[in-house]
Amino acid sequence: MRVLGIESSCDETGVALVRTRGGGLVPELLGHALHSQIAMHQAYGGVVPELASRDHIRRVLPLTRNVLEQAGAELDQIDVIAYTRGPGLAGALLVGSGVACALGLALGRPVLGIHHLEGHLLSPFLSADPPEFPFVALLVSGGHTQLMRVDGVGRYELLGETIDDAAGEAFDKSAKLLGLGYPGGPALSRLAEQGDPKAFALPRPLLHSGDLDFSFAGLKTAVLTQARKLGAALDDPASTAKADLAASTQAAIVDVLLRKSMAALKQTGLKRLVVAGGVGANRALREQLNAACQRGGIRVHYPELALCTDNGAMIALAGAMRLEAGIQAPSHDYAFDVKPRWPLDMALRTA
Ligand code: KG4
Ligand code: ZN
Repeated sequence: MRVLGIESSCDETGVALVRTRGGGLVPELLGHALHSQIAMHQAYGGVVPELASRDHIRRVLPLTRNVLEQAGAELDQIDVIAYTRGPGLAGALLVGSGVACALGLALGRPVLGIHHLEGHLLSPFLSADPPEFPFVALLVSGGHTQLMRVDGVGRYELLGETIDDAAGEAFDKSAKLLGLGYPGGPALSRLAEQGDPKAFALPRPLLHSGDLDFSFAGLKTAVLTQARKLGAALDDPASTAKADLAASTQAAIVDVLLRKSMAALKQTGLKRLVVAGGVGANRALREQLNAACQRGGIRVHYPELALCTDNGAMIALAGAMRLEAGIQAPSHDYAFDVKPRWPLDMALRTA
């Protein structure tokens, strides 16, 4: 069975085709294509939802043709069309859902609405070192920071989550305060490589809260206060102040993610960790998680770097894995709706 996946929840249009292999094997990725809108939004310092929607409209069909060419497949060889139903920007989601349902109707093929975070969560299955269930998942994206216990496809238990900003948001907002533009995460982490992570003592909220929740909103205030104190030194090319502040900010975020992940592994007794979502591309986070997991006898898995941020492959994969697990029937009802706000556990109850 071939599943086409369409992702359009935010500022990346992603399309991919996977083929199920049965027998518990991970579906095979036959082709995937991505268009990032970063360059377009850069002028505005962040994502402009209306521009995002219009660009998804321009990109989705050419990307679909590209994927079919890569896979050597024709449109009518697609068996099911999976699309991101939420969470995300409503207008952007409507483009992917509308195209998926129109294609489904035209081809007489069913459609499948997928939860964006489930896509991220399952994306490491496409890596060269795929995980096995059960595991603890650390989901760290621009909009979400969650720790989950994952016992199988569709069997997710929320262990803890952010009570305010997400980890990616903390990277992005701090980067903006340092004048690093959008998207800030990769830029901040690049600058951090040249700085001293111990230069500034920044807060690590909820580190000792005894639960698995996170809070990152206070960090940006601390970064702002520190940046103001530094004043002109921040932009003095002879000073390392900006790189030091970037490194200290990254250290604070990574430290909290690391310690809470270890606490989740301890609490559940599980010996496997999966890291997914855009922040999972962060090198410092990977290095520190690798070291801690090695010390603790924990296996840790990541998506391929190209599949850490939003992409169509994870949506096609999640669709294929849900179908194979028999937990979601594909639908011939093309009266689609989207769910801009959609908790993952709710999605599984209502799918
Ligand atoms: O998963 P994703 O592509 O989109 C959402 O679903 O939100 O994640 C995007 C987030 C952004 O906040 C971006 O700054 C962050 O991931 N990010 C990074 C890195 N690469 C992407 N943060 C830190 N270090 C990176 N290397
Ligand atoms: Zn995402």
